[in-house]
Amino acid sequence: MSERKLRVLVHGAGWVSGEHIKAFKNNPNAEVVAISSRKLESCKARAEEAGLEGVVYYTDYDKALCHEGVDIVSVCTPQQHHAENVIAAAQAGKHIVIEKPIANTVDEMRLMLGAVRAAGVKTVVSFVLRWNPLFELVKALIADDTIGDVYYTEADYQHDIASWWKGYEDGRTKALGVSAMMVAGCHAIDAARWFAVKGLGQAAVPVEVFGYSGGYRKGLEVEYDYFQNSWRKAPPLEYDDLEVLLVKYSNGAMGKISVNYGCIMPYSFPVEVFGTRGTIKDNKVWSHKYPGQKNWAEIPTIAPESADVSHHPFQGQMDHFVDCILNDRESHCNLADAIHTHSIAFAALECYETKRPVTLPLPGLG
Ligand SMILES: NC(=O)c1ccc[n+]([C@@H]2O[C@H](COP(=O)([O-])OP(=O)(O)OC[C@H]3O[C@@H](n4cnc5c(N)ncnc54)[C@H](OP(=O)(O)O)[C@@H]3O)[C@@H](O)[C@H]2O)c1
Repeated sequence: MSERKLRVLVHGAGWVSGEHIKAFKNNPNAEVVAISSRKLESCKARAEEAGLEGVVYYTDYDKALCHEGVDIVSVCTPQQHHAENVIAAAQAGKHIVIEKPIANTVDEMRLMLGAVRAAGVKTVVSFVLRWNPLFELVKALIADDTIGDVYYTEADYQHDIASWWKGYEDGRTKALGVSAMMVAGCHAIDAARWFAVKGLGQAAVPVEVFGYSGGYRKGLEVEYDYFQNSWRKAPPLEYDDLEVLLVKYSNGAMGKISVNYGCIMPYSFPVEVFGTRGTIKDNKVWSHKYPGQKNWAEIPTIAPESADVSHHPFQGQMDHFVDCILNDRESHCNLADAIHTHSIAFAALECYETKRPVTLPLPGLG
């Protein structure tokens, strides 16, 4: 174990960065020493909110990367900056927390992987739901043979990504947001992969993808406010709000994944896992291990029931990453693993054009 605390630079001082800062602050083996962003005021605001003292602020990322003794860089900028920010951090020899989506093109993913491998640094991608209590419970039940071997999983991101989100102005565009699967649905892809394998710390490897996209919000200059049950003016989405994908994995399991920005209801993230000896639907279990079972066994826990970042288990993610660094272990949720998740979203875009299934890995990512 290292004697000194790991020093963290947080880059991109917006909404999600406040949770990264809090999580590192609460970890006994880490400390936030610098924050960089476009605006100095944003850096200051995040530090004050978290009650940090002695933190240095930067508006120049290259200078921030040279801040003395930084071990970890948390990349919290909008997605179009992730590739460049991650490559620079890797070249500076820093371990990296990468917010999702990791990149906006397949080429960017290839370059990021090359830079991270060349530098030999560790990464964790913010598929933070892997640390949600329901997800930890379901993964543990699967690993414990509660439902036998998994042959099918479903995961759905059902939520109105809309103008309530500060990142929407960029994220709604095709050029910067890319697609609904990239901006938000990648969480559902990751969940479907995570539960399609029995082993703890393993996610399924996709080998084929097919999908359709549609919905009704693309191009609309209004959005529905479900709290008020009324329409309001909003800048239009430039891509489809609904995507439904079918995925085959290398272990023979299959998955169905959707992202649905058009649903008129509170945030919902249902997961279903079907095994050869039982089934899990969210926190409800039917198992060959429970003889005499007459109805679903329901386990009280905390599900992913809010889009608010303060509800997301960033503490678990950052504690895991600090532990990986201190004990020289790779994260199960590292860049290479996240590339499988993002490859599904990129393959889907190819499907919508060609109307044919796409084989994975994508070229250059094998
Ligand atoms: N894992 C999760 O569950 C989760 C949840 C929410 C968001 N996210 C992801 O986190 C990322 C950030 O989202 P957010 O909601 O935090 O967005 P946000 O509130 O808009 O924050 C982004 C911050 O990045 C800064 N920034 C923008 N361009 C920059 C540049 N060129 N150089 C330096 N800083 C720049 C902005 O800084 P200034 O304030 O200085 O202008 C802004 O404060 C997105 O990729 C998003 O998808 C993930």
